[in-house]
Amino acid sequence: MCGIVGYIGKKDALPILLDGLRQLEYRGYDSAGISVLKDDKIKIVKRSGKIKDLVSFIKSHKDLDNSKLGIGHSRWATHGAPTNINAHPHLDCSGNFSVVHNGIIENFSDIKKELIKEGHKFKSETDTEVLPHLVEKYYKRDLKEAVLKAVRRLKGSFALGIISKYEPDKLIGVRRESPLIIGLGKDENFIASDIPAVLRYTKKIIYVDDGEMAVLTKDKVRVFDLNGKGRKKKVDTIKWTVASAQKAGFPHFMLKEIHEQPKVLKQIISSRIKGHSKITLEGINLKDSQIKNISNIIILACGTAYHAGLVGKYLIEKFTHIPVLVDLASEFRYREPIVNKNTLVIAISQSGETADTLAAVREARERGAVILSICNVVGSSLVRISDGVLYTYAGPEIGVASTKAYTAQLGILYLLAFYIAERKSLLKGQLKESLIREFKKVPEILNKILGHKNYISRIASKHLHFGSFLYLGRNVNFPTALEGALKLKEISYIPAEGYAAGEMKHGPIALIDEYRAVVCIAPESHIYEKMVSNIQEICARKGKVIIVSTEGHEGIERFTKEVIYIPKLDELFSPIVIALPLQLLAYYIAVKRGCNVDQPRNLAKSVTVE
Ligand code: AGP
Repeated sequence: MCGIVGYIGKKDALPILLDGLRQLEYRGYDSAGISVLKDDKIKIVKRSGKIKDLVSFIKSHKDLDNSKLGIGHSRWATHGAPTNINAHPHLDCSGNFSVVHNGIIENFSDIKKELIKEGHKFKSETDTEVLPHLVEKYYKRDLKEAVLKAVRRLKGSFALGIISKYEPDKLIGVRRESPLIIGLGKDENFIASDIPAVLRYTKKIIYVDDGEMAVLTKDKVRVFDLNGKGRKKKVDTIKWTVASAQKAGFPHFMLKEIHEQPKVLKQIISSRIKGHSKITLEGINLKDSQIKNISNIIILACGTAYHAGLVGKYLIEKFTHIPVLVDLASEFRYREPIVNKNTLVIAISQSGETADTLAAVREARERGAVILSICNVVGSSLVRISDGVLYTYAGPEIGVASTKAYTAQLGILYLLAFYIAERKSLLKGQLKESLIREFKKVPEILNKILGHKNYISRIASKHLHFGSFLYLGRNVNFPTALEGALKLKEISYIPAEGYAAGEMKHGPIALIDEYRAVVCIAPESHIYEKMVSNIQEICARKGKVIIVSTEGHEGIERFTKEVIYIPKLDELFSPIVIALPLQLLAYYIAVKRGCNVDQPRNLAKSVTVE
């Protein structure tokens, strides 16, 4: 999705804006631009293509240097193709107001018609361009008031950065739904869509809430609601280092984040299991009475987060005996969902900014549900509309393909299932102790599997030319099959489908021949023999099988030499550990196929529009 940055201070704004846009590249974009205020004029350069194209174009525009105020933008096209004209920033008729925008103005065409009637001239096809013209229309020597009047006209979502030649000491930011943060520096201040854009300069962050405007000077930040009333805001200190938002020596963010999983799971376990086995879920904000009265649970999410929710269903139903519906947020929001005041909605989202998930949660809230979110971004939009939040604290996940966020979500879901069961007196004593003991093995097992990465890379080399893949799993590993397939398809562009292995006879077995690679997830489990039967059927039809199984089941090699073993672990926890080899398999196939692993085509890290 789009990214915005803004700077006001004592330094040269241009390099800071460009660096900020580079740190936001992971959000996915197809054009970029900046505008700076210099010699009493707003100067603007914007291009379709990548930041590097913008930078090389700027090199021939020396007159952008040494400005102290500016805004920048990376655009993921929604209204209007990715062209130079449609790139942001956008200007008003006079060129005295410049705006960058992340989000969608739903009523832009009516406003555009009104402004054209009043003589405003438009250049682009974008929804955003109505903004500088509205500010121009309302400007009466008070930029803050003009912006307040303009944004009150808008329907839809926006995070804005605004500058004007008339008030060179001000940088304005406004937020509704799309994320916006403020970075506090010494004699300088920043706005941005996300923390990595400012992390190099400051760790002091203010999260702008929905319906708030920020007015920044180089040494002061004031925040208002959209009626112009002042708001006091908390200053957070970010624990992330710049390094943690960089690649730390790995070739790709995705590989770095795959390797971070043992540490992330260890942190989840150590911070939430006190002493021997006391589970504490800070932020859950659910009284025991509320837990006892939960009639049904609905898990809402998209993509990988949805797959985590599917695993959560097995866990929560098994231990708490509460019925769980896992629903795609994009489906839930347009259905007539059955929700009541005893419904607990668990919303899962790495970014906390996924438009469908936010909309579905708002729908559930309106119908009286209690909202508990599982989220990786502190202070994100999802968190602000939740009654309770369980942070995964996985650190920034930059690679578009979600990896550590997925296993972190699973880790939280295991603890949540145990916690609710315990509160309902359904889990205690020996059983609870043994489950926690088993769960604590996960980080070390993930580390061991990482030790096999070269072996997995060799398996990838043998399979990167297959035209399509099928992933098969059963029970708690049916979602693992779905997730493995999504990882492969989204970064290698090879068609891949996850399926419940028990469904093979109901259709998919027709696909099997020597051109089809089939990944069979067959760890030691109560349905291991069922998976062996599936593998036999596939081999009988010359399917090319890759198996993930548990050490000690070497007999499985009678079907194929391509077996990835995981250390012994209770089958209940196998989804967390099996996700990792499947992530590596997808990663190595994509890299060997020359794909852009961190920024796959057509995808964005956070889908903040429908
Ligand atoms: C996962 O690899 C994908 N990039 C995508 O499916 C993602 O999981 C989905 O868009 C949900 O994102 P969220 O967790 O930030 O809500």
